Amino acid sequence: MVIAVARRNTPKGKLMDLTSMAVIPLLLGSLGVFALFKLLQQMRMRAYLQDAVVVITGATSGLGKECAKAFHAAGCRLVLCGRNGEKLQELARELSGTTSHPKNTHKHHTVIFDLSDAKMVASAAEEILKCVDHVDILINNAGISYRGTILDTGVEVDKQLMETNYFGPVALTKALLPSMIQRGQGHIVAICSVQGKISIPFRSAYAASKHATQAFFDCLRAEMEPYDIDVTVVSPGYIQTNLSVNAVTADGSQYGVMDKNTMEGKSAGEVAQVVLRAVGQKKKEVLVTGLLPSLAVYLRNLSPCLFFTFMASRARKERKAKDT
Ligand SMILES: NC(=O)c1ccc[n+]([C@@H]2O[C@H](COP(=O)([O-])OP(=O)(O)OC[C@H]3O[C@@H](n4cnc5c(N)ncnc54)[C@H](OP(=O)(O)O)[C@@H]3O)[C@@H](O)[C@H]2O)c1
Repeated sequence: MVIAVARRNTPKGKLMDLTSMAVIPLLLGSLGVFALFKLLQQMRMRAYLQDAVVVITGATSGLGKECAKAFHAAGCRLVLCGRNGEKLQELARELSGTTSHPKNTHKHHTVIFDLSDAKMVASAAEEILKCVDHVDILINNAGISYRGTILDTGVEVDKQLMETNYFGPVALTKALLPSMIQRGQGHIVAICSVQGKISIPFRSAYAASKHATQAFFDCLRAEMEPYDIDVTVVSPGYIQTNLSVNAVTADGSQYGVMDKNTMEGKSAGEVAQVVLRAVGQKKKEVLVTGLLPSLAVYLRNLSPCLFFTFMASRARKERKAKDT
């Protein structure tokens, strides 16, 4: 006790006392500012999403379906798009019957079209604008994946991937943009992939379509800046959906296998919440993945040769595993 009092009276002790006296209020102050910032961010996000008209492609399953639930819960008015009318109607009914979000009394619309058919996309855009008058947020989510070797894959399969994952979203975006520009507001979202940043062997057509998507929407973001149109690109890693089951193979047939990586990925609901926050906070880009894929993205840019060596080794291992 005596020693402690004596220490407090030394210049060093007095300085320590002063520091601890200053640090605690500073810490509490910073926490308060942070909490206030978060609260304001939440309020701004809620106001941005409440009653917003949101178009979601690929709403029949996986991430699109979960996005529909998340944006419905946020109070949005939805236009659910896909190829299967029955599934879309079922989802619209399910959402309308959700009593846990009494603030959302909107009637959701459904529009059926195949994204890989350019003519259908153009008339779908007209139908969307007829249904809802304007679009606040377009979520380009629909997509297909691919498994195969480049040598075995016909160009028709490459084209199919590009039509669905690239030309379809590009056409729909171009068809809806003029009305957004006319209103002076709008938000375009592209669900891309980590494979839009790095290329993994035996996924050539998919990686190519996602690289093209990333490039297009990056250009769009810059070009839309004067019109106040926001562009968000979300690049997830593996998500637990039917993407690998629905993937096409080298001859165009369905792959039909639930891959281990996909099964162990993030849940679609979790990723949908990331999409909701990214849109609500008007983020320009979000990478939704674990440490290793994030490191791989950096490695591709910082040390391409090392990255290529890893990918060649991965290709060798996968080929060996398939042969045995
Ligand atoms: N799952 C992953 O690991 C993962 C990772 C990164 C990025 N992504 C991306 O996330 C997005 C959603 O995929 P998901 O994982 O949710 O897979 P999913 O469960 O297979 O859902 C794909 C959706 O796209 C629709 N679709 C496919 N081809 C279409 C076409 N020609 N026209 C209209 N709609 C079409 C499907 O509709 P139908 O019901 O009519 O087939 C379905 O609603 C895709 O862009 C995908 O590339 C997924």
